[in-house]
Amino acid sequence: MSATEKAIEKLYIPARTASDNAYSPYSGARVGASLLDEKGNVYTGCNVENASYGLTQCAERNALSAAISAGMKPGTAHVLLIYATGFEVLAPCGACRQVMSELLADDAVIISCHSEKDFHSWLVGELLPDSFVLS
Ligand code: THU
Repeated sequence: MSATEKAIEKLYIPARTASDNAYSPYSGARVGASLLDEKGNVYTGCNVENASYGLTQCAERNALSAAISAGMKPGTAHVLLIYATGFEVLAPCGACRQVMSELLADDAVIISCHSEKDFHSWLVGELLPDSFVLS
């Protein structure tokens, strides 16, 4: 079994379950995200929309915020999985790419799933090459 298949086995159901909690009365999109850290902990998040639209929070950033809030150390998660309904393939938004590049491991893989067998994956560095960092 490949590393990606193993990650899907661990993270697909948590992300799909989180997507059931989506608050998305405006778009109708249900998105869930899950990530796994080096200790084996799994953290999840869903999208939370807002009537002002601009305050909408994506599933990926909510999952990363949940992880940091629960004590996960930055750079210790090597895989993040997205489950989304209503998209051909959900490629993470720019804001999520910036946050992922800061909080995930440098070699992290992002997997975007329609189903357990139908997915796209990218390295975090492919999603945001030359990301902004404070020097
Ligand atoms: N969304 C995410 O949760 N993640 C992304 O990377 C892109 C978009 C959500 C936000 C909003 O609730 C809906 O998808 C449509 O933009």
